[in-house]
Amino acid sequence: MTQQAVILLGPPGAGKGTQARMLAAILGYPQISTGDILREAVRNETALGLEARRYMNSGALVPDSLVDAIVKERLGRSDCAAGFLLDGYPRTIPQAGCLEGLFARDAERPFAVGIHIPDGVLVNRLSGRLTCPSCGKMFHALSSPSKAGYRCDQCGAALVTRKDDSVEVIEERLRVYHRETEPLVGFYRERGRYFEIDGDRPVEVINEAILQIIRTQGQNQGTTR
Ligand code: AP5
Repeated sequence: MTQQAVILLGPPGAGKGTQARMLAAILGYPQISTGDILREAVRNETALGLEARRYMNSGALVPDSLVDAIVKERLGRSDCAAGFLLDGYPRTIPQAGCLEGLFARDAERPFAVGIHIPDGVLVNRLSGRLTCPSCGKMFHALSSPSKAGYRCDQCGAALVTRKDDSVEVIEERLRVYHRETEPLVGFYRERGRYFEIDGDRPVEVINEAILQIIRTQGQNQGTTR
């Protein structure tokens, strides 16, 4: 069976994490979020976390060499054998080049699902985001509040706001996205491995659209999903 490598590409707040979590539950592929891995390193105050924190808090990207090493190690684990969902990686052309180099055959190389959405919507989404630090469930203070107030309605933990979700840092993250990450649309389009969807729709509708792309690609690639 061929390994299916799926990239969720999109600006901060596009819904990459929300969708990756839902897709992981349906497909049985692991969600690999470089943002989550880095945040855990920051919480644990590891050498990586101490280095990454100063970039993350200001909305800048962590250096390619650090994230490339994280992803190479993670993709080598056995749970990625059938496929995996990359959430937040690659984010620069050099990172995309590094990822391409991990696959020997063109048929196995990752395809990208681009979640397209206007910047104005993103600022509102991110400034209202609440996350469960324990199970990772995502809420929005206005559009999808927890049934348990400021506690997670799945596991009961107190919900938190991310440090980089202040309006100033969100605006910087969007600038960085347009400058460093948006060129990846062309990168994957030129290789015939880019599929764009409208991200300004209900979560379930978007999920169905992404699933359709993954399943069609799976049939073309000879994976079973
Ligand atoms: P990362 O954690 O990857 O953050 P991001 O890309 O900025 O994306 P977000 O997690 O903010 O948004 P999302 O698209 O996952 O949206 P979500 O589903 O949460 O990276 C953080 C930092 O780490 C970076 O700034 C950088 O410093 C560093 N980093 C990470 N990867 C790196 C890399 N490869 N290279 C270098 N540095 C790296 O949804 C957002 C909100 O919207 C939620 O409240 C949700 O409930 C709501 N929502 C979702 N979908 C919908 C919908 N359809 N309708 C209405 N609301 C919705």
